[in-house]
Amino acid sequence: MPHASHPRAQRSRSGAQGARQARRGALAATVRAARRVLGCGGACWVLASAALAAPGPAEATLSAQAPGAAQLRHGQELARSCAACHGIDGNATGPQFPKLAGQGAAYLERELERFRPTRPGAPAARPSPVMNPIAQGLSEQDRRDVAAYFASCALRPALAPLAAELPAGARIWRGGIVGRRVPACAACHGADGHGIPPLYPSLAGQWSEYLVSQLRAFRDGIRNDQGPMHEIASRMTEAQIREVADFASGLH
Ligand code: HEC
Ligand code: HEC
Repeated sequence: MPHASHPRAQRSRSGAQGARQARRGALAATVRAARRVLGCGGACWVLASAALAAPGPAEATLSAQAPGAAQLRHGQELARSCAACHGIDGNATGPQFPKLAGQGAAYLERELERFRPTRPGAPAARPSPVMNPIAQGLSEQDRRDVAAYFASCALRPALAPLAAELPAGARIWRGGIVGRRVPACAACHGADGHGIPPLYPSLAGQWSEYLVSQLRAFRDGIRNDQGPMHEIASRMTEAQIREVADFASGLH
């Protein structure tokens, strides 16, 4: 299931069930046809633009922030320079690179801003030797468009669903760690891990290795020690970090 900020999801939230199913069927056919023509490299833009172009009863309820076709096309052009690491469709090429597909657009845009130094010469709020210079080269419009594009892509989860096999991770996800005052991850990242836009990112299907690296960065104060994640991560053991990251990686 795509993230809630996906244009299709935004449109389908209202409207009758039957109309939704009919639209979904029509959309799937459009996408299949477009994929045959364009190949999979264009998959997410095609998905998103087909969703936007398809007429339907929910048309009038489209969010004012829903990306337009031109924005997504520009985002896809920019994404070529991200593809070596994040994949052209946001499904990253290796576990050290986060999957961006289906992530909330507002979250992606915010992180791209955090990768930039606030003033020339000052360190970025989110230090990364790789992403800092890349983010610096993107204008505000670029950041918005490339974020909208990756958000429109369909996520291929890193792992098959594993919930039943990972009881320790599942417990932390759903109930937190009582003795350590760690809140349930589900409270902010959603029971299904898809996050709550615009503030809380999706973790579902993300590479476990990447999630572990970020929990360590929060714990060590390397990444955003203002938000809740620093406190949360610093109360967890290495083993607990791994368990919950593996569990989130298997959420779909
Ligand atoms: C050479 C590899 C590489 C390229 C090219 C690259 N990235 Fe990244 N990106 C990374 C790595 C590594 C991270 C994780 C950084 C960290 O540890 O904080 C990352 C993180 C991100 C994040 C944060 C994701 C999250 O879940 O918090 C965003 C957003 C992002 N990249 C967008 C982009 C965009 C947009 C482009 C192209 C304009 C791009 N990246 C190009 C390697 C790359
Ligand atoms: C009170 C709300 C809250 C709770 C509870 C919470 N998080 Fe978060 N989490 C956030 C916010 C907000 C961010 C965005 C990070 C930022 O603003 O720097 C985030 C970001 C993250 C990220 C980085 C995602 C990325 O794409 O880079 C990971 C990993 C993460 N959280 C894991 C967890 C885990 C595991 C738990 C449970 C043990 C948890 N979070 C509980 C609010 C929360």
